[in-house]
Amino acid sequence: MFDSLAGLKKRTHSCGALRAQDAGAEVILMGWVQRRRDHGGLIFVDLRDRDGLTQVVFNPEANPDTHNKAGVLRDEWVIAVRGVVNPRPPDMVNPQLATGEIEVLVEELRILNASRTPPFQLEDYRVDISEALRLKYRYLDLRRPGVMKNILFRHRAAQVTRKFLNGQGFIEVETPILTKSTPEGARDYLVPSRVMPGQFFALPQSPQLFKQLLMMSGLGRYYQLCRCFRDEDLRADRQPEFTQIDVEMAFITEEDIMGVVEGLMVALFAELKEVHLKPPFPRLTYRECMDRFGLDRPDPRFGLELKEVTDLIRESEFRAFRQVVDQGGIVKAMNGVGLAKLSRKELDELTEFVGVYGARGLAWVKLTPEWQSPIAKFFPDHLKQAINERLQAKEGDILFFVADIPQVANTALGQLRVHLGQRQGLIPPDTYSMLWVTDFPLLEYDRDEGRFVAVHHPFTAPKEEDLELLESPDTLGQVRARAYDLVLNGTEIGGGSIRNWRRDVQEKMFKVLGMGPAEAEEKFGFLLEALDYGAPPHGGVAFGFDRLVAILCGAKSIREVIAFPKTQKASCPVTQAPSKVEPEQLLELGLRLEK
Ligand code: AMO
Ligand code: AMP
Repeated sequence: MFDSLAGLKKRTHSCGALRAQDAGAEVILMGWVQRRRDHGGLIFVDLRDRDGLTQVVFNPEANPDTHNKAGVLRDEWVIAVRGVVNPRPPDMVNPQLATGEIEVLVEELRILNASRTPPFQLEDYRVDISEALRLKYRYLDLRRPGVMKNILFRHRAAQVTRKFLNGQGFIEVETPILTKSTPEGARDYLVPSRVMPGQFFALPQSPQLFKQLLMMSGLGRYYQLCRCFRDEDLRADRQPEFTQIDVEMAFITEEDIMGVVEGLMVALFAELKEVHLKPPFPRLTYRECMDRFGLDRPDPRFGLELKEVTDLIRESEFRAFRQVVDQGGIVKAMNGVGLAKLSRKELDELTEFVGVYGARGLAWVKLTPEWQSPIAKFFPDHLKQAINERLQAKEGDILFFVADIPQVANTALGQLRVHLGQRQGLIPPDTYSMLWVTDFPLLEYDRDEGRFVAVHHPFTAPKEEDLELLESPDTLGQVRARAYDLVLNGTEIGGGSIRNWRRDVQEKMFKVLGMGPAEAEEKFGFLLEALDYGAPPHGGVAFGFDRLVAILCGAKSIREVIAFPKTQKASCPVTQAPSKVEPEQLLELGLRLEK
């Protein structure tokens, strides 16, 4: 019933290629029937492939047999046509379509395959379809121009990245996928070994230690577009497997790495967006980010910066705040400029919003220009005056306060700032803010674990001038790391550091993380040993490629730039993985499931 391609010449053009100047040419196109319309004898078909649409026409007078055959075509049938390019009459030109000036008058039609009616409409990709359905039938979803455009864009981004790094003397090297677990904060995906029963590989959370070993091997400059696997809670910008642009360099300082990264970002933005970034990108210390934005990935494209008012609150009579301050907490405030119009209901919603980040409340003051607020009565006039001045408050503004331990107060107000920025339309569209965050703390205290953990990872070097602070448990929290993050529009797109290339410093780091020499030897003996054989000073960085591409495409989730993403439950909607395996497979691996 179906035709074959036998005897037909090769495809001459994609469905997005033909223009007015091609008129008269004989062409062969292949693709999918997006729509068939019968018009008083003429049959029109919109023929689609990844590049676009071309209107092809079946004329009963010019070619009765072919016209007859076209009568059976339905949506998503697969066809090849041979015909002649005709200019459309001026009143039929479609300016919305790249090929809108022409159509192809078909002489020969080959029907290559039929299709069931698709589970959702493919013609207009803006039609709202549930993501679950889209992901289950991802191959159909990809036929629509939306995600396909992102995938083509992603390909170009990868090419620009490779071209740039190749030009800078970087060598692309693949590193193992079946490897040993390296602690980077998330849970590992484990793979049982059949040959060595009871032993497991871990899928890499990143190639961190391999790229360091490559520096010890003398490779000098490494990169890889690599897969990373992390078993963690998923969000819009997180996937259990994702792609990094991973980079490592030897004989360098922070400046060298930042220079290469800035060059790469300039190239990506220039070639993909025609946006001309101007390096060097601004640098903010971690401290400054927390003080001004409450988050370590600030978006400075709009105002509403935070101010600490702890010193002033000491004089107020408001018990909820005084208590927090007396216990060593802080009070952070933000001026919601011009937002005094927010309703009671909206304020309740915002209170709920900050609650998600652990805040016990959200105090607010509307300036009418007097203080209008449930807590106004606890503040004497001179204090109101002082707070107004610090926050540069004026009539029509609303002040927000959160009192808590610094981490909660900063996070809650920092997130509220971003929320208001988005909701109130304060962020100018199509603008990019790229900045570095530096001087991160090396360690932070983890209450659940009851010990210090690495903020970045255990291989990050401390600042030379802070080395002494590693000697006392009281000063561990003050040690600064030689680490840096790159932040684009409030999203952390990359992070890296100078590494511990001296064995004594790396051993000290393991020790302050609560790892004894025996455990360090068992987990990282290979690294410690390698550091003994002439390791050069080295460091690097890794970018979340999915995140970077998503921002450049204006996609709201990284799932929109991944061909086959996982769901929120870390499962594959196309194949239904993960799935059960045969009992024999388990037996072979020496595994038994608990019922
Ligand atoms: P880090 O853990 O910061 O550093 O990861 C680097 C970048 O990868 C992106 N990223 C993710 N993207 C999608 N889904 C995820 N689950 C996910 N997790 C992280 C982020 C992040 O900035 N080896 C170190 C780098 C180094 O020190 O050189 C590392 O992996 O954009
Ligand atoms: P209360 O006196 O508990 O009714 O609180 C009065 C106002 O202060 C309410 O709007 C609370 O949301 C707010 N509030 C209470 N505790 C805090 C806190 N720790 N930080 C910020 N606002 C708070």
